[in-house]
Amino acid sequence: MSNVTIKALKDGPLLVQGEMELLDSEGNPFKLTNESVALCRCGGSSNKPFCDGTHSRAGFQSTVSAGE
Ligand code: FES
Repeated sequence: MSNVTIKALKDGPLLVQGEMELLDSEGNPFKLTNESVALCRCGGSSNKPFCDGTHSRAGFQSTVSAGE
């Protein structure tokens, strides 16, 4: 079982928590300062892959459910 959880926040980013390694497209690791990061899901962040709060100003809406 993975020690990482990923939660799709309502109208917001993917919240990733746990011991992880986040790599760029070249395979280089981002320097993470803690075990929790918010990854942009709206496409509007100026600091991709991280969420910078733009989703709120842009009115991004998305609610996903693992249930039926
Ligand atoms: S989800 Fe927050 S800026 Fe995209």
